[in-house]
Amino acid sequence: MTADVDIVRELRGAGLAGEGDVVLEPLTGGVSCDVWKVETPSGPIVVKRPLPQLRVAAEWHAPIERGQAEVRWLKRARDVDPRIAPEVLAELPTGHAFAMRFLPDCPVWKDELVAGRVDGDFAAAVGRGIVAVHAATANNAADRDAFPNDEMFRALRVDPFLLHVARKDTELAPALNALADDLVARKVALVHGDVSPKNILVSPDGPVFLDAECAVYSDPAFDLAFCATHLLLKAVWLDDLRLEQAAGLLVDAYRAGIDWEDADGLLKRAGGLTAALLLARVEGKSPAQYLTDPEHRRIVRDQARALVLAPQSIDALVANWKRNLA
Ligand SMILES: Nc1ncnc2c1ncn2[C@@H]1O[C@H](COP(=O)(O)OP(=O)(O)O)[C@@H](O)[C@H]1O
Ligand SMILES: [Mg+2]
Repeated sequence: MTADVDIVRELRGAGLAGEGDVVLEPLTGGVSCDVWKVETPSGPIVVKRPLPQLRVAAEWHAPIERGQAEVRWLKRARDVDPRIAPEVLAELPTGHAFAMRFLPDCPVWKDELVAGRVDGDFAAAVGRGIVAVHAATANNAADRDAFPNDEMFRALRVDPFLLHVARKDTELAPALNALADDLVARKVALVHGDVSPKNILVSPDGPVFLDAECAVYSDPAFDLAFCATHLLLKAVWLDDLRLEQAAGLLVDAYRAGIDWEDADGLLKRAGGLTAALLLARVEGKSPAQYLTDPEHRRIVRDQARALVLAPQSIDALVANWKRNLA
């Protein structure tokens, strides 16, 4: 409770709240932050404060500096295109909390997909949004220096999604370790690190990306793979062909924006990462919570294991994906 009082005081300090009552309304969301909606005299805002320990079954510690990584990503993405990220209004003095503008009437993309509203044009716009940030930041020393978050990326992405499975599966370990080594070594562009439909708002101006706590200067193929993985898992869960098609449109739109390296090489790396991420969502430290049906898990596990051993380029992977065994 005291912490909330601190937030209100700091919002006042930043000129973001008047002297009257200020109500912090928790927004449903993830496991890593407190996120509140706050009504202010100048309209609704969102205040986000990273937690020192994630709220997940397995114990995860993560430095709260990831709040700073998120703020930097949001600002950099808005430089590239102001439509694709909320405006940061203030960084608060304590605990890397920050305030951003609340986007009204913008559903979360995941909720739209689960409700059966699968819009292929929107998936393509997501691909264009991600690749725009990658293209603008590729091979850029200033961006590289502004995101020195390798340790955080290792702790929150490389270890739980790639190495955790490698430790349990000796047959796949060499391939997964090689993917992890390559990912950690590759410094190409500014990666968001959590491009999941849960972290994308559907605005009238297209996708708005949230939740960039894992932002790092690394391999852009990771963002493409991460997002495609979510769509392919949901295709299995909801047995919906349109979600596979959406993944294809995402990849096509992304590909069209690759101007800093050979597109085939990037799509190949993204294919390897997608295989590993698919597997991590059934075997890893952060399993997809909706994939509870053992049959769904088997469909994902069998294909993902085969793909880790014999990787395909992400466009082929998506085209060959089987959402059911019919
Ligand atoms: N600027 C914003 N405008 C509107 N809703 C937001 C905004 N920021 C966050 N939200 C809502 O809060 C949820 C959680 O925010 P997010 O940044 O993803 O935090 P977490 O780390 O908890 O997942 C989002 O899924 C979205 O519904
Ligand atoms: Mg989130």
